[in-house]
Amino acid sequence: MSQHIALLGSTGSIGTQVLDVVRHWPGRFTIAALGAGKNLERLAQQTGEFHPRCIAIQQESDLPALRELLNVHAPAFSGEILVGKAGLNAIAESSVSALVIVGLVGLAGLEPTLKALYAGKRVLTANKETFVTGGHLVQPYLDRVIPIDSEHAAIHQCLKNEPVKAVKHILLTASGGPFRTFSAADMQKVTLSQALKHPNWVMGHKITIDSATMMNKGLEVIEAHWLFGVSYDQIQVVVHPESMIHSGVEFVDGSILLQMGAPDMRGPIQYAMTYPERLPNPEPKVHLDFLSLSRLNLEPPDLERFPCIRLAYEAGRLGSGATAVLNGADEMAVQLFLEEQIDYCAIPKLLEAALNAHRQESTPSAPSLSDIHALDDWARRFVREQANPLTARSTG
Ligand SMILES: NC(=O)c1ccc[n+]([C@@H]2O[C@H](COP(=O)([O-])OP(=O)(O)OC[C@H]3O[C@@H](n4cnc5c(N)ncnc54)[C@H](OP(=O)(O)O)[C@@H]3O)[C@@H](O)[C@H]2O)c1
Repeated sequence: MSQHIALLGSTGSIGTQVLDVVRHWPGRFTIAALGAGKNLERLAQQTGEFHPRCIAIQQESDLPALRELLNVHAPAFSGEILVGKAGLNAIAESSVSALVIVGLVGLAGLEPTLKALYAGKRVLTANKETFVTGGHLVQPYLDRVIPIDSEHAAIHQCLKNEPVKAVKHILLTASGGPFRTFSAADMQKVTLSQALKHPNWVMGHKITIDSATMMNKGLEVIEAHWLFGVSYDQIQVVVHPESMIHSGVEFVDGSILLQMGAPDMRGPIQYAMTYPERLPNPEPKVHLDFLSLSRLNLEPPDLERFPCIRLAYEAGRLGSGATAVLNGADEMAVQLFLEEQIDYCAIPKLLEAALNAHRQESTPSAPSLSDIHALDDWARRFVREQANPLTARSTG
């Protein structure tokens, strides 16, 4: 029987690869709904190809342009078109599917994920920001969540049904990003185009910049804490530039299980979509020849050059209020860097300043959804003001 899927973030890097897997297994999956942001052309093409019953876009003002594109790419589409946050939430809760896949980027992923879980659905998610901002809200429903992030998918595979008490450490691997071998002085001069060139993965802009600052690993530390119920002391980041070991688990008896594979997100995506069944790789050309691995490098992260990892541990230990602040500050700092309003080295400084300012406030350690949005607004405004006081005042 075909599994009906609601796919949120269908036009992004994760979303398009989910659709590659769907294409590869005709009859096994049915796309019931698609949610996207502003890439109207791609959404219209996907609608023509996958025939969802409803679709959603980010902005009402894009509706006329979307209708024109649907006339070209999906003339037979007669389903509902939803808009904004309410549109994503409606799709997440809708009875059109029992499975929701979240490929949204940023805090935008949290609320629809919660709506899907409250509606009793299974959720496959790549959206680490969900755990960073609202891990405590998702935690009661973890038996219906499977991670897509490659490191967490690797840990999921190593853990199987082992109890948390059997785990000594989670070994979270990191490629180290494009600046792994740069000196602190060279890092002062890096450009946006250098930061957008990840050595091993092609991904959306936000995660690519997060990988360049290694904030991505920091976010993943917090994601692992919530997903696997381990303390921050038990999570060890290991830099592994080849990205062949996707992560692992050290058990209390000294045994270590690592999960390996070629760096191709369709692996963890398909693993989550067909779990517990394993199917052949949707792209057999992407294959890791074990015998060809002459050497695998493993080293500790340099927290001096990549302070974002340290900040993530600090925020994680403070609680979900602090991690929501760190996330909001990071989303804003990355946006400013992508707009070339700040330089690369300003990102960790702004995050540290936001976290320090937040420490002076008294905020709940387990914030509600509306608290999380308030903390996010505060952190974004703080970063904008610190980065450029004049612009911040004029844009509010
Ligand atoms: N890419 C990877 O290989 C990878 C690997 C591991 C984990 N992840 C995680 O997966 C998530 C997605 O990453 P990505 O690289 O796929 O990002 P991406 O390429 O930027 O895609 C993001 C998707 O979210 C949509 N979107 C963004 N904001 C939205 C909003 N407010 N309302 C509706 N739709 C919105 C975008 O729509 P439009 O494009 O139409 O505007 C797009 O479909 C992130 O949390 C990332 O950390 C990604």
